[in-house]
Amino acid sequence: MTTRDRKFDHIKICVSERVESSYTGFEDVFFIHKAVPELDYNEIDLSVNFLGKELKAPILIASMTGGHPETYKINKNLAIAVENAGIGMGVGSQRAGIEDESVVDTFSVVREYAPKAFIYANIGLPQIIEKGVEYAEKAVEMIDADALAIHLNFLQEIVQPEGDRNAVGGFNAIREVSSELKVPVIVKETGAGISREVAFTMREAGAKALDVGGKGGTSWSGVEVYRVENEIKREVAKDFWDWGLPTAFSIVDCHDVLPVIATGGIRNGVDMAKAIALGAKIASSALPFLKPALESHEEVEKKIQYFVEGLKKTLFLTGCSHVYDLHKIHIFVYNLLKEWIDFREFDLFEFSRRRFHDI
Ligand SMILES: Cc1cc2nc3c(=O)[nH]c(=O)nc-3n(C[C@H](O)[C@H](O)[C@H](O)COP(=O)(O)O)c2cc1C
Repeated sequence: MTTRDRKFDHIKICVSERVESSYTGFEDVFFIHKAVPELDYNEIDLSVNFLGKELKAPILIASMTGGHPETYKINKNLAIAVENAGIGMGVGSQRAGIEDESVVDTFSVVREYAPKAFIYANIGLPQIIEKGVEYAEKAVEMIDADALAIHLNFLQEIVQPEGDRNAVGGFNAIREVSSELKVPVIVKETGAGISREVAFTMREAGAKALDVGGKGGTSWSGVEVYRVENEIKREVAKDFWDWGLPTAFSIVDCHDVLPVIATGGIRNGVDMAKAIALGAKIASSALPFLKPALESHEEVEKKIQYFVEGLKKTLFLTGCSHVYDLHKIHIFVYNLLKEWIDFREFDLFEFSRRRFHDI
């Protein structure tokens, strides 16, 4: 099966089957309601600057697609919507576009319809290890990207029959690309999370941000369960359905190492607020935008509005006039997430009433 057909297979599975894992860790975050917020709701400010670009809200639609003729429409609808909303998005892995010129337009359509928006390019680490800086540059040029996400999906690679299993040389490949590319590099997981240890090495390699892509949303082992034909391999894929570091744990781990994009199971504006309250700069989501993008850009815009409204209302009810005031308010953290914070030897009291230093 070609890369482009495999990617389209994934889309069909994601719209028709149950593919999510359980527990993001946001279940263990509780906002303290401020009965007298002393704010004008209409003056709440969600705008942020991320990697040098202004966003009207700290929201990105996470990488999903491109590479198959059928995906042109999906990326076009996403692009029109993010441009209108003043937010940003990533494209799916551009391997197919680099290997087959006939599908380049399924990626470049994004810049065509989102001339001003923050757009990031996307290549998997196995391709970066094998093909190096030139491959990364091609991906960035293809869509005139503001940043490049190097995605990590080794969980998926080991469960899918045709997966790339060689991760040797990953650190050096990321370091080389980070030092030579003209745009910043984001290291991006795809559903299994990034730990504190890996975050430090990625900072050393020159990454400028981390998309933690934690557990609790789309499970790539789960998606592959529907594709793997061999019975034993399918059973093993099932065993890894819930593998990974929950998104909230991963945000805690990385928040003071590099700017964090929180992805993985973020399903509404309250989840977005929780992600930012735990230390993320940006909240991002993939799966909830897939069905709307198959319909129209208006449907994508409705979904963005749903996220924005939930985020803004959470700010109002917690007395935050700017979205990054979420970094300063007290939050109540309990259960497993509290245990994780203890395990990492962060001071829970400091953590739950953080005064983040700018990183
Ligand atoms: C249909 C689909 C295709 C995806 N393709 C890519 C991809 O090509 N590259 C990538 O970095 N992430 C890809 N992802 C992963 C998402 O960017 C995201 O990290 C993950 O789905 C977790 O977010 P969610 O729970 O909101 O879906 C894809 C996700 C979906 C749903």
